Amino acid sequence: MIKLQVKIILWIFIILARFSCGAQIENINSNDLLAFEDFLRSQHLKHALVVRLPQAARQVASYRRLLANYTTQIFTPGKRVQFKELFYYEAPRTALLVDALESDAAKLWVYRAASEAGLFNNSQAWFMLACGQANRTDESIIVEHLAAYNIGIDADITVAIRDMQCGNWPLYDVYRLGQQTALLVEAKGQWSVAAGYRVWPKFSSQSWRRRRSNLANITLIGSTALIEKPPGYDDFSYLSNDRQLLQLDPMQRKTFQLFRLMQTMFNMSLDVRFTDNWGQLQPNGSWSGVMGQVTSGEAHFALCPMRFVLDRQRYVQFSPVLHTQLIHFLFRHPRRSNIRNIFFEPLSTEVWWCVLALVVCCILLLPLHVNLERRQHTLQRQLPAVGGHLTFVWFTILETYLQQGPALELFRLPSTRVLISASCLFSFMLMQFYGAFIVGSLLSDTPRSILTLQALYDSGLAIGMENISYNFALFGNTSNQLVRNVYTQRICRPHPSNILDIRRGAERIRDGGFAFHSAIDRMYRLLVELLDEHQFCELQEIMFNPPYVAGSVLPKSSPWREHLAHAVLHLGEMGLMQYNDRLWTLPKPDCSLSKATQVEVDLEHFAPALFALLLAMLASAVVFLVELLLGWISARRKQQANRVK
Ligand SMILES: *[C@@H]1O[C@H](CO)[C@@H](O)[C@H](O)[C@H]1NC(C)=O
Ligand SMILES: *[C@@H]1O[C@H](CO)[C@@H](O)[C@H](O)[C@H]1NC(C)=O
Ligand SMILES: *[C@@H]1O[C@H](CO)[C@@H](O)[C@H](O)[C@H]1NC(C)=O
Ligand SMILES: *[C@@H]1O[C@H](CO)[C@@H](O)[C@H](O)[C@H]1NC(C)=O
Ligand SMILES: *[C@@H]1O[C@H](CO)[C@@H](O)[C@H](O)[C@H]1NC(C)=O
Ligand SMILES: *[C@@H]1O[C@H](CO)[C@@H](O)[C@H](O)[C@H]1NC(C)=O
Ligand SMILES: *[C@@H]1O[C@H](CO)[C@@H](O)[C@H](O)[C@H]1NC(C)=O
Ligand SMILES: *[C@@H]1O[C@H](CO)[C@@H](O)[C@H](O)[C@H]1NC(C)=O
Repeated sequence: MIKLQVKIILWIFIILARFSCGAQIENINSNDLLAFEDFLRSQHLKHALVVRLPQAARQVASYRRLLANYTTQIFTPGKRVQFKELFYYEAPRTALLVDALESDAAKLWVYRAASEAGLFNNSQAWFMLACGQANRTDESIIVEHLAAYNIGIDADITVAIRDMQCGNWPLYDVYRLGQQTALLVEAKGQWSVAAGYRVWPKFSSQSWRRRRSNLANITLIGSTALIEKPPGYDDFSYLSNDRQLLQLDPMQRKTFQLFRLMQTMFNMSLDVRFTDNWGQLQPNGSWSGVMGQVTSGEAHFALCPMRFVLDRQRYVQFSPVLHTQLIHFLFRHPRRSNIRNIFFEPLSTEVWWCVLALVVCCILLLPLHVNLERRQHTLQRQLPAVGGHLTFVWFTILETYLQQGPALELFRLPSTRVLISASCLFSFMLMQFYGAFIVGSLLSDTPRSILTLQALYDSGLAIGMENISYNFALFGNTSNQLVRNVYTQRICRPHPSNILDIRRGAERIRDGGFAFHSAIDRMYRLLVELLDEHQFCELQEIMFNPPYVAGSVLPKSSPWREHLAHAVLHLGEMGLMQYNDRLWTLPKPDCSLSKATQVEVDLEHFAPALFALLLAMLASAVVFLVELLLGWISARRKQQANRVK
């Protein structure tokens, strides 16, 4: 077990060949180290390990002296290098020196292990030295020795060919585009003792990703999920169709358009593998669906956006954001959010109580006046039409307040007239205000009041959500008390169930009084067919959680990560991603045109008046029956009394 403090460890493998290009071994080897040091400096590397073979001529101390400025570890393997133990997650970028490219020992102990561990990638900068041969090209030598290994597009391998005659060692860049393609060797620069390590401008000014962006029409495999595909369509033509059926599988089909752009960007072609789900973790630890195809290496990346969730993070890596999904509550906003009866609405509760108090005052005051009136009337021997009892007072006050005006000749006293006049004036003002308000409020579009989750919770609307996994994660796992209340008290109802599929949810939104939590763009596409324009304009969104972002996924340490990340960011920067989003979003009707044109009093608002009338009629009928009964009983009594007599 080798425990390494990786931050301060520089690994250099120096494999000293038993044979060498010339006689002056010591001299050549010091040139090797000079070249390697120049390489380290130009690549800004600080870390290495010396793998010293038993037959190496040089002493450990001389490596240390020559590489004094770098953190050096010397390691003498007796068997294959255990790369898994040497490099682990987030180990710093490390330079490796192989100073005999063609030696059997290097192949046996280093290349094979590195190839199996996948270490010919950008985490390691390999520097290899080989001897030139007069009758062969340098490229053919490199290809002969390295072609067998797992070298990918992100390999960082620099091969220097020792040249005894002129002392200018040519440098080559070695990589491969895809797994089945030929090893590519490109001239990279030159090294000499005098001039040091020089690379051609292309190599100094461009990153490897940019240099290797023409993929020469290799085929990469992408995986995507089609969930709502109608029967009778071919998988690929359905996926790539951006004109029809935009409401089905919009996310996957929208992002596929971006991958089509990437094909031309990188000069590659895509082989699409289809599945029917996004991916679930199976009990045996493997994944199904798109995640399964990506983690098992069947596909190079996902062509559909995958939500960033923690349990996927351990198995795959994500690209930058490819798609943003807005998930809101959507409902038809009721014309009036108040449950309070519209007929009571013009005045607040306190004002109603004040009005009632005033009326009661008048009712109490009037009998005093009436008593006085009666005394006067009797004095003047006029018709005693004025009754002293409460009924008379009650109806008189009612007449006053409902602007009927009691008969004038009944009241002669100025004091009574003042009371009646004041009451009339008061009732006039109240009625004017009340009537105007009712008419005005019915005509005007009241401002929307259900704009927050709290208001939605307090309103009388039924609340539901789409039967989809992220909704359960969102509502089931929140620390917010309000969201939890909404979920447990309003959404989780057995009958009728408020957890519906999106189509059923759209129908209930159409029927009104129902708020539904789902992906907003898909919902709008369904609703635009179900609702007329006026109803569509009543739609109100409530958002309480940030939108979900999703990116493509790749296997861990995939060589295509940089290409995909670059492509996604580039498309975003160029505005093509936003343009594609626009093509896939539903153009909404202009609601400012239909505003305030259709005004009507619907039954919902008029019902209380009808209901009150009905109640009154019932009450009067009951009273009528009671009166009949009483009349009949008293008639019977009278008869019995007569008979007794
Ligand atoms: C190490 O660096 C110092 C200054 O940066 C330099 O003077 C010295 O020559 C270097 N040593 C070697 C062995 O390159
Ligand atoms: C090249 O020359 C070397 C000797 O210098 C010889 O061993 C080798 O077989 C030659 N290779 C070819 C391909 O002719
Ligand atoms: C794409 O790759 C093919 C195959 O190597 C090549 O013939 C073609 O020129 C390349 N296209 C571009 C635009 O580089
Ligand atoms: C690229 O590859 C695809 C399939 O692998 C092939 O159909 C197409 O003709 C190729 N294009 C070029 C320019 O070679
Ligand atoms: C895991 O289980 C699924 C079915 O649940 C099966 O299809 C898959 O082959 C299994 N994978 C492994 C590695 O056993
Ligand atoms: C949600 O959908 C799953 C399958 O897609 C189904 O088994 C489940 O019964 C549904 N739940 C509700 C509440 O409809
Ligand atoms: C809720 O969170 C816990 C840990 O944060 C996690 O184990 C659990 O699976 C989550 N539940 C849902 C429904 O996402
Ligand atoms: C290189 O490969 C190793 C092992 O597969 C991996 O841990 C590392 O992340 C890879 N580095 C890069 C830059 O992909």
